[in-house]
Amino acid sequence: MSKFCINGGKKLNGEINISGAKNSALKILTAAILTKEESTISNVPDIIDIRSMIKIVESIGAKINFSNNTLTIDPSDIDSCSPDKSLTNKLRGSIVLVGPLLARFGEANISKPGGCLIGARPIDDHIDVFTQLGVKVTEKDNEYVFSGKPKANEVTLSKLSVTATENAIMASVLSTGVTNIYVAAAEPEIVDLAEFLNKMGAKIKGAGTHEITVTGVNELHGAKHDVMPDRLEAATYLMFAIATNSTLTIKPIVPQHMSIILKKLREAGGKFEIIKKGNFQCIETFKRDSLKPVSIDTRTYPGFSTDMQSPYVTLMTQASGESQVFETLFEGRFLYVDELKLMGAKIDFLSPHLIKITGPTALKPGVIVSRDLRGGAALVMAGLIAKGTTTIESTEYIDRGYEAMDKKLLQVGASIQRIEG
Ligand code: EPZ
Repeated sequence: MSKFCINGGKKLNGEINISGAKNSALKILTAAILTKEESTISNVPDIIDIRSMIKIVESIGAKINFSNNTLTIDPSDIDSCSPDKSLTNKLRGSIVLVGPLLARFGEANISKPGGCLIGARPIDDHIDVFTQLGVKVTEKDNEYVFSGKPKANEVTLSKLSVTATENAIMASVLSTGVTNIYVAAAEPEIVDLAEFLNKMGAKIKGAGTHEITVTGVNELHGAKHDVMPDRLEAATYLMFAIATNSTLTIKPIVPQHMSIILKKLREAGGKFEIIKKGNFQCIETFKRDSLKPVSIDTRTYPGFSTDMQSPYVTLMTQASGESQVFETLFEGRFLYVDELKLMGAKIDFLSPHLIKITGPTALKPGVIVSRDLRGGAALVMAGLIAKGTTTIESTEYIDRGYEAMDKKLLQVGASIQRIEG
């Protein structure tokens, strides 16, 4: 269990380099098993969830090399459709291995993916998708057995689910015929996955919209791909900059992936510009005046991402007035609020999904515990704001999705120390 010790109240200055997107790289890694040929994926973030998924994919026989953010995978010797259950039940995202296993081998046997602290995380929509593709699904005590090659069909999701959409795409790429996927999620990470699959020889149209068409092909080949920048990491550091009234350059970013959060942060008084530097774009932040309260509700893309809700709430503790945050997707995504209240934040629960924040409050330093990935980022922001030393425990949650957050913050002048053990 590692900790971060932050001596807050400092202004930051300098450049933050954004890593590749966790929620894209995880799926591209599993998509790579759809061929026997080797693929090379660059700009892969070196985070716990990637290292966990590597072990899971290696447990079915793939050979993977991962260094300096570049991953090569040789899937030619895969000899099992039952990834190590002691690993899959610790990583909810491992569910995206089922689609590729069904497409290539016609079977998959996985542990029931554990829920997690942000919510029960059911997989009924995934099962519904595979059933619509003609796959037989058997539920045993703590595992699911999927059998049968997916058959091209008209597939309609029962809600906008990111990974269920990605499973529908990956399950269909080798089917005979055309699969139309309706009520598809439209996140940018799905577009990045489709781009990789099309480089492998797949025929996917409409990724990024709510209707996706997959024309099955006989086989796919290896490909090279550079993972898109992580919009969620970029938004996190942008909010760190605004919260501490700092001047940071955050790069690279894809501004169109962040439209609504840029709009809301500007409305709240954040001062920043999007500028082009060479062949990529970046955000430059400037000194701001006082922050204004702006209420938000979390929605599927292109709405305000639920993954940005937690840091945004910490930011609103510094705004002058009352704001409300309505978390519409997950039932457990306010776990960090109690920790913020220990630091003096004035936050009231109007319902399990709706909170009211009253600011500005001078957050007090203290010892707090991170309970999930994005909640952890919210607590780091609180530590950067509070004058004095804040200790954040269980930072392995943060390391699941943010590459070297302590190192990136040290480089821009934050006083942050990682304490292992
Ligand atoms: C993806 O999770 C992301 N994870 C999550 O990011 C993100 O919060 C979420 O999408 C929503 O944007 C990855 O891509 C690895 P969903 P996913 O299926 O696909 C319900 C992070 O912090 N649902 O889009 O699992 C579900 O409970 C992580 O980076 C069902 O009911 O989420 C939620 O209410 C956290 N049954 C809603 O749908 C299902 O079978 C949307 O969830 C599947 C989902």
